[in-house]
Amino acid sequence: MKVLIVYAHPNPSSFNHAILEQMSFGLQEEGHEVQVKDLYAENFDPVLRASELEQLQAGTTPESILAEQKALCWAEGLVFIYPLWWFGRPAILKGWFDKVLTNGFAFQYGDKGLTGMLKHRRALILITAGGTKKFFKKNRAEHLIHRPMSDGTLAFCGIDDVHHRIYYDISGISEQARQKILSEVAGLGRHFNE
Ligand SMILES: Cc1cc2nc3c(=O)[nH]c(=O)nc-3n(C[C@H](O)[C@H](O)[C@H](O)COP(=O)(O)O)c2cc1C
Repeated sequence: MKVLIVYAHPNPSSFNHAILEQMSFGLQEEGHEVQVKDLYAENFDPVLRASELEQLQAGTTPESILAEQKALCWAEGLVFIYPLWWFGRPAILKGWFDKVLTNGFAFQYGDKGLTGMLKHRRALILITAGGTKKFFKKNRAEHLIHRPMSDGTLAFCGIDDVHHRIYYDISGISEQARQKILSEVAGLGRHFNE
């Protein structure tokens, strides 16, 4: 499969970056074609400006957004890698969705209601969190993390085959536990096999 990894972490020495490297390696080991969209490295501007929204509403897509949509359309599979920030996605990733998943491109409304228009076959979301699994379970908070991505964004645009992994307590766990996560991530390339 052609797989686009959308990655949102500002620090190239972070654990998230190590996850990116392992995921990319694992996909290639399984024979998949990989492209990485590193939003911070690309200095992506996540703010949907008034002028851009106006153009979109008038039926014209700005060139910068068309380029992002082209990168998205290249892929058959998607991977998102990011740290949990305030129970959600880093703003740069949220802004990427704001700009790229436009009405008429990613979804449309018709006589029969909403139609998701993205044709990607599968998506995988890898999230790291500072909090412990115990904390999230106790607060019944896991669905709050998943739903904006799976239901609110990807399924809305037609991608129903969505899987999540959350890696908890990232600053509290041992080096050995981190290595275990990274080797598990390297094996996730199989997730995109037919
Ligand atoms: C702005 C910000 C917001 C954060 N919000 C949360 C949060 O809501 N829940 C949580 O468990 N951890 C939160 N964290 C902790 C990060 O998720 C954690 O540091 C990160 O996943 C560790 O991965 P890294 O070493 O690759 O950065 C936050 C960190 C930052 C910088």
